[in-house]
Amino acid sequence: MRRYSRIAGTGSYLPPRRLTNADLAAELATKGVETSDEWIVERTGIRARHFAAPDVGSSDLALKASQRALEAAGLEASQIDLIIVATSTPDMVFPSTACILQHKLGNAGAAAFDVQAVCSGFVYALTVADAMIQSGAAQRALVVGAEVFSRLLDFTDRTTCVLFGDGAGAVVLEASDEPGILASDLHADGKHVGILCVPGHVSGGQVLGDPLLKMDGQAVFKLAVGVLEDAARATLAKAGKTDADIDWLIPHQANIRIMQSTARKLKLPLDKVVVTVDQHGNTSAASIPLALDSAVRAGQVKRGQHLMLEGVGGGFTWGAVFLRY
Ligand code: ACO
Repeated sequence: MRRYSRIAGTGSYLPPRRLTNADLAAELATKGVETSDEWIVERTGIRARHFAAPDVGSSDLALKASQRALEAAGLEASQIDLIIVATSTPDMVFPSTACILQHKLGNAGAAAFDVQAVCSGFVYALTVADAMIQSGAAQRALVVGAEVFSRLLDFTDRTTCVLFGDGAGAVVLEASDEPGILASDLHADGKHVGILCVPGHVSGGQVLGDPLLKMDGQAVFKLAVGVLEDAARATLAKAGKTDADIDWLIPHQANIRIMQSTARKLKLPLDKVVVTVDQHGNTSAASIPLALDSAVRAGQVKRGQHLMLEGVGGGFTWGAVFLRY
């Protein structure tokens, strides 16, 4: 009998400080940077985002999301034997945010490591956890996307600083005879490093290079639309399914226009797409598990339904996971 990994519970957390577009526009105006609610909504679909307080790190957001996911799964942290955190905004250079989270959860002994695939991080982490559970290397995994992207933003660059937010989402994945994750498909093409990056790094006690986010928005947009369709189709083919089998598309929440375009290509009506970008902005690796948990708790996503999760981001990285919830 095939051994699957199955989602046993989901959780998420947003830091309390919420900025509407109008709030952000007012803050930016004090720096001489001009933007408007109208421009942001029309180009991106974003209406608000949450920013973490300065003393709050990714592991703090991850902790709250994880506790909620564990509660939903009816499990204690001590029952987890694998912790993977997808993040591009780790608390420290090392050790991993997963190890810091592990300690905060009071779990000792589980394997713990981070995955760095930017906005595709959660589908990468879920695929790795699924493979480890299928192989018998793990029984119960906590898979988390957690970000404080506000720390990477250049608040004098209106083309990027209006797009991102902070937050965390988590799932508990456990071994099961019932499906489960049915298929996944991951890719990267490092020749596109320059279109979306934070080029700075730590060296000799200093930050060398610019530690703020740089993006060629139009290049990212064009690449994202193409690869998201390819990844979804490849994943469906591996699972022996078709577009018609998708109950919910839960894409990375970067821009409503990218999400609408992907849905059109997959011939999915827009009411089958989970949308949280309007309230969260782009939370990078946290966006898919945040959207999943919101949809589960809102009663949209139900047990037995088939979900297509897909991510795309810096690297350039992309991928999809098709699963029975
Ligand atoms: N407020 C007001 N005006 C703005 C703003 C702003 N925040 N930002 C840019 N503009 C202006 C520009 O200066 C430009 O003015 P000009 O015509 O006088 O020169 C005009 O708006 C149009 O700018 P464009 O960059 O051409 O706008 P575009 O329609 O391409 O939208 C955007 C920009 C929203 C970034 C779009 O390219 C996009 O969504 N790209 C995808 C990128 C993305 O989602 N990245 C997220 C990270 S990657 C990932 O998660 C997949």
